[in-house]
Amino acid sequence: MSRSLPWPRSLLLENRCGLRYSIPKVHPKAQRALHMPLHEASSSRSERLRALHDDRRGYPERLYTTEILPLNNANIRFVGEGEEPLFEAEVEVEDKTHTDFLEQASHALHNSHLVAIPTETVYGLAGNALDPDAVGKIFSAKGRPADNPLIVHISDKRMLRDLCPPNFQLSAVYGALIDAFWPGPLTLLVPSNETQVPSVVRCGLPTLGVRMPSHPVARALIAHSKLPLAAPSANVSGRPSPTTSDHVYSDMTGGDQSKGRIPYVLDGGPCRVGLESTVVDGITAPGQLRILRPGGVSVEEIYAVLEKEDLLAQGSETSPQKVEVQVYGKELVRDSSLESNPTTPGMKYKHYSPDATVILLIARNHGTAKSVENVKGPQDVIEEQVRCFQKEENRHVNVGLMSKDGSALTMQLLGSSIPTARLWSPVQKDRYSLYGYSLGDLSSPGEAAHRLFDGLRTLDEGFMGIPRCDLIFVEAPDDDSGVGLAFLNRIQKAASQTIVIAM
Ligand code: TXA
Ligand code: MG
Repeated sequence: MSRSLPWPRSLLLENRCGLRYSIPKVHPKAQRALHMPLHEASSSRSERLRALHDDRRGYPERLYTTEILPLNNANIRFVGEGEEPLFEAEVEVEDKTHTDFLEQASHALHNSHLVAIPTETVYGLAGNALDPDAVGKIFSAKGRPADNPLIVHISDKRMLRDLCPPNFQLSAVYGALIDAFWPGPLTLLVPSNETQVPSVVRCGLPTLGVRMPSHPVARALIAHSKLPLAAPSANVSGRPSPTTSDHVYSDMTGGDQSKGRIPYVLDGGPCRVGLESTVVDGITAPGQLRILRPGGVSVEEIYAVLEKEDLLAQGSETSPQKVEVQVYGKELVRDSSLESNPTTPGMKYKHYSPDATVILLIARNHGTAKSVENVKGPQDVIEEQVRCFQKEENRHVNVGLMSKDGSALTMQLLGSSIPTARLWSPVQKDRYSLYGYSLGDLSSPGEAAHRLFDGLRTLDEGFMGIPRCDLIFVEAPDDDSGVGLAFLNRIQKAASQTIVIAM
């Protein structure tokens, strides 16, 4: 049975997911820009930009009354068949409502409609990867540039086999990575079966990005529908990726349930990882494993698996099985021709960006900032940025700060008390008010990653007593190891500048 949630649905989500998920649905700026002809848009710079962006984006040819279908992970089980459990997965669902919801979503997918799905990384905007009409709708519903290929999500290895050319053999390296990280946040580029997979999914590239998500709801829908699902992150292009069904609902309806771009959002709770999958290319450059996008599986974890399986090339050693690892942003230098190279189309776009101006703060003793001198303390940096802002708009400024509990930065700017539900009590100054959003405990980099996109959205859109912030300062992770590399990659794409501070 389908269930249409009454308006407003924020309280329902609050009960189910905890008090973080009651953000108001109507983002006033998005709402105005989405439903207003371009010439009527307000003259403020960001609204004009937003309206331009929206105008170019366009809706799919029809609108939907978007329904949210809540599913509980505990009711979903996978039963492996064949020689190995990942080869042919069957899904078992215990209760009738869940079966009905999966059936409804599956029916929509078989009829070229889109369904937003939870994954362990971020929510995805899914359509049948083998259906060019559905894939076209993904691009228009997101406003996605036409040269940015989609990742295809599978529920078992049989689907992987069907997406690749019949003669394709998995390399030992790919085999080891699949055994270690699937289902999970790792995307592998494989050669594409050109007769099976429409060219529009991969934007004409010879390779296809494939991953097996570990979120039970995503995997259950794939297995139930028996369809490989093309799914980019379910945000409107350029916005921070969605990590709750609420974020998706806001982007895909603009706050008006009857003007949705998609018929269903499957709600599987907040995403565990909070940043997208790691994208790995082991086929374009022989002897190399290229990490094109850092993500939920860390570079160190990949090294550890290859080392254990003796698949890392050492020095000048040549072996057909072994690889040298190259990491985008490290060995594969940023800003080089790689930014616009077609093997990493997504990396050249400005992503993850809210309307507010985002500024990354890096402490002077941070690995990447050692040589910088004459730096100011955080208080002075914020005041300087506030003054700059006031030159353009002469008014009191709302400033957001995303930082870790107990860090030197937090202690200086917000004090040592404990934030409630991730939010600090505001600090009032003459020219500005400072609103703190907690990135979690100093010792949990994974928690900072988990909260990053939600923090950007919360401070950008306003939330329970917090106004929409004009400037958002984000504390950099301590280093670029582990999930810190993915955090840095995403925040550098959202930020308009990085400022080194004396700490
Ligand atoms: O965690 C994730 O990967 C999420 C969830 C929904 O699975 N999906 C996601 O998709 O982040 P998207 O479309 O937002 O980002 C996909 C990235 C883009 O940077 C794209 O350029 C790259 O993967 N990509 C996809 N296919 C590719 C290909 N054949 N060659 C090179 N890069 C590819
Ligand atoms: Mg994305």
